[in-house]
Amino acid sequence: MEDEQPLAGGNAAGPVVRVGDTVRKAWTASTPSVSSYVDFLRSAGVDTPRPLGRDAQGRQVQEFVPGPLAMDAQALSRAQLRRVGGMVRAIHDASAAFVPAVDACWHSPIPAPDAELVCHNDLAPWNLIRGDRWVFIDWDAAAPSTRLWDLAYAAQTFTLGDVGRDPADAAQDLACFVTGYRADARLRTALPSAMARRVDAMVHLLRSSEVSGVEPWASMSADGHGEHWEAVGRYVTAHERVWREALTAGA
Ligand SMILES: Nc1ncnc2c1ncn2[C@@H]1O[C@H](COP(=O)(O)OP(=O)(O)OP(=O)(O)O)[C@@H](O)[C@H]1O
Ligand SMILES: [Mg+2]
Repeated sequence: MEDEQPLAGGNAAGPVVRVGDTVRKAWTASTPSVSSYVDFLRSAGVDTPRPLGRDAQGRQVQEFVPGPLAMDAQALSRAQLRRVGGMVRAIHDASAAFVPAVDACWHSPIPAPDAELVCHNDLAPWNLIRGDRWVFIDWDAAAPSTRLWDLAYAAQTFTLGDVGRDPADAAQDLACFVTGYRADARLRTALPSAMARRVDAMVHLLRSSEVSGVEPWASMSADGHGEHWEAVGRYVTAHERVWREALTAGA
C-alpha cells in the first residue's frame, strides 16, 4: 500500500490525503453528480482535478494537482486577479451548457437565491492551486446557483478578505477581478449588495451551526472563523459605496 500523506488547508471534508498522484477524500451522496459535472467541465476545456472513481476504502479518488494554494503563495497581482476573474467566467460559461441528471444530488451548505446554472460555490484562494496549472479544486459543494451569487463570493474572497486594507485600494483589486470576468453593467450594479448578502449567509451558517451543534461549522465558528466572517461582513457592508463606484466607474 502506498504512503498516505495528510493534506492541510481544508476544513469541511474531514481527512484529505495524497496517495501518489491522487487525492483521497470522503465519498458522499453528491459525489456521483459532482463527478459528472466536473467531467463535463473538463470536456468543455475547464482544467479541474480529474475524478478517478472510488478506492477500496470507499473514498473518492481524484487527480493530485501540484503547486501551492493561492492562499499560501504571494499575493495575486492585479493582472493575476483579472486572470482568476476570467477563470470564473470560463467555468460559468461552460456550466451554462450542463444539464444535470433528473435525480442529481447536490450538497451545498449555503442556500442559493436561484438555480440558474450549476456553480462551484467555494471559488476562493483556499481552493485555487497556483502551480504550472491554475486549477480550482474542492468541487464537492457544487450545486445550482446563480452567476451573481457565485461571482459575489469569488470576488469578495479574492479581493475583500483583508479587513485592514484601505478600501480604495481593495476596490481597485475588485474592479480588476470583475473586469477579468467581463461582467456587464447589470452584474456590476448588483455585486456590492450581493457580496454583503453572501458574507451574511456565511456568518449565519457558522453562528447558527454553533447553536445547533452541526459540524464542521460549529467548531469552525468557535475557532475564529465566526469572528473573521463577521469582521468581513462589517467591512464589505461599510464600504459598499466604494465598491459600487469602482465597479461602475466609466460605465
Ligand atoms: N486535487 C487536489 N490536488 C492537490 N491538492 C489538493 C487537491 N484536493 C485537495 N487538495 C489539498 O487538500 C486540502 C483539503 O482539500 P479540500 O479543499 O478538498 O478539502 P475541504 O475540507 O473540502 O476544504 P474547504 O475547507 O475549502 O471546504 C486542500 O486545501 C489542498 O491543499
Ligand atoms: Mg478546500
